[in-house]
Amino acid sequence: MNSNTLPNLAATFAAALTQFSCASPPAPPAPAPEESVKPGINESFLAEELDVENFVERFEGESREVFAQRQHIVDAIGLQPGQAVADIGAGTGAFLDPLARAVGAEGTVYAVDIAPDFVAHLARRAVDEGHPQIEARLCKEDSVELPRDSIDAAFLCDVYHHFEFPRHTMGSLHDALRAGGQVVIVDFERIPGVSREWTLGHVRAGKDEVIGELESFGFDLVEELDIEGLEENWAARFERR
Ligand SMILES: C[S@@+](CC[C@H](N)C(=O)[O-])C[C@H]1O[C@@H](n2cnc3c(N)ncnc32)[C@H](O)[C@@H]1O
Repeated sequence: MNSNTLPNLAATFAAALTQFSCASPPAPPAPAPEESVKPGINESFLAEELDVENFVERFEGESREVFAQRQHIVDAIGLQPGQAVADIGAGTGAFLDPLARAVGAEGTVYAVDIAPDFVAHLARRAVDEGHPQIEARLCKEDSVELPRDSIDAAFLCDVYHHFEFPRHTMGSLHDALRAGGQVVIVDFERIPGVSREWTLGHVRAGKDEVIGELESFGFDLVEELDIEGLEENWAARFERR
């Protein structure tokens, strides 16, 4: 071996090492783009200065049946003390108190929304109502932004029809749910010829269509829930496949 060979060998070795150490697993394929299924539906929630108190009045009146039946609805989820539940699209926090009581002090309630003013309100409300197990989190219009395998259940009340990018949002929720994780959806009945004109215009999909979408996003229908006092809304439980 002459003296010129040594640097060559060193260079070859360094090149091989660099190649080896830089070799990272191929990036996962980028998710296929998704067009908004209902452009503009969340404009009022994303307004510059959201009048949160106005929405508290709208969402938390006893004449709104999902609010009047909130305890029955949360009971139907079947949460256990110590579990982690995400209230996706938590809005003003109408369900926070019963959810926090259901999982108890050892559990976690993620109160998730796309509207920064709602999220600030949710965080204040958790403190004011003495529920340190509630964590308010801002998410994106196409992702719930929760860590992988972080929740046992997700609850969506009057929210699914607000998802502009349901495939991506439900995909991110699928990732956040632990094995066997449950999703409970409560949403408006949408029956052409029966439902109010407002509902037919505002809500893009009826129950059967939503169930079909969830099946295609990796969730199995477990049961439809018959919740006392719900007449304008259907409810169903799904399980992460
Ligand atoms: C009609 S409100 C319902 C609020 C609450 N769940 C209730 O029943 O009182 C719909 C909520 O969903 C939120 N939202 C809309 N799209 C969302 C998304 N992609 N991810 C999370 N929240 C969303 C809105 O900002 C709004 O707070």
